[in-house]
Amino acid sequence: MERVQKVIANNGYCSRRKAEEYIKQGKVKVNGEIVRELGTLVDGTNDLIEVNGYVLEKKQEKVYILLNKPRGVVTSTSDDKKRKVVTDIVNIPTRVYPVGRLDYDTTGVLLLTNDGNLTNLLLHPSNNIEKVYVAKIKGILTPGHRRTLESGVIIDGKKTDRARVKIKKIDKKANTSIVEITIHEGRNHQVKNMFKALGYQVEKLRRDRVAFLTCDGMNTGEYRFLSIKEVKVLYNLVTNSK
Ligand code: URA
Repeated sequence: MERVQKVIANNGYCSRRKAEEYIKQGKVKVNGEIVRELGTLVDGTNDLIEVNGYVLEKKQEKVYILLNKPRGVVTSTSDDKKRKVVTDIVNIPTRVYPVGRLDYDTTGVLLLTNDGNLTNLLLHPSNNIEKVYVAKIKGILTPGHRRTLESGVIIDGKKTDRARVKIKKIDKKANTSIVEITIHEGRNHQVKNMFKALGYQVEKLRRDRVAFLTCDGMNTGEYRFLSIKEVKVLYNLVTNSK
């Protein structure tokens, strides 16, 4: 519980001093009742607070979710083509939004939150958050091409940043390679386009890690809430990694 003038000021409606004036003038209502006591305690998440007839938006608890995204789901909150979207899977009352985008057919680590500040920080190109992908590609990745991927390939006229690339498995019979690629950028279809630039087609793509977050032990389609500690570490990473 917090003092009503503090909740009004934190909401950005006016300063705390001005809020105190409104309270004294009988211009503030809590759950429909006028309050004139400056020390009135309210619950900013659940109480309905009105100032001069204007209803303050309720304080939203911040929610952070790690989803192991399945294939065949759109990374969005709605889809014109009526396909399943990631928020259909996350069955919670709070509205959350995906942090960045995984393709329809990509699986793995996806964060969803209603914390716009963390979303912006995570997506900002200047941060150095690692994203680790495992790609199954058609063809045998040559050592030369592995090095080229690491030093950067041109996509849409711009060279990609340095990446780390490990060949995990080669299947000569099936003519496929399993390749782990670690990048920091987040351009659209970046991994597929990096392989495409060298003539390889990605058959399957999974994101195994974002920063320290993995979906180890989670089936596809499963999600879990991040702990406060994990959120703090993420904030530290995005504010210290520049
Ligand atoms: N790169 C891609 O090509 N697709 C994704 O879904 C993510 C990264």
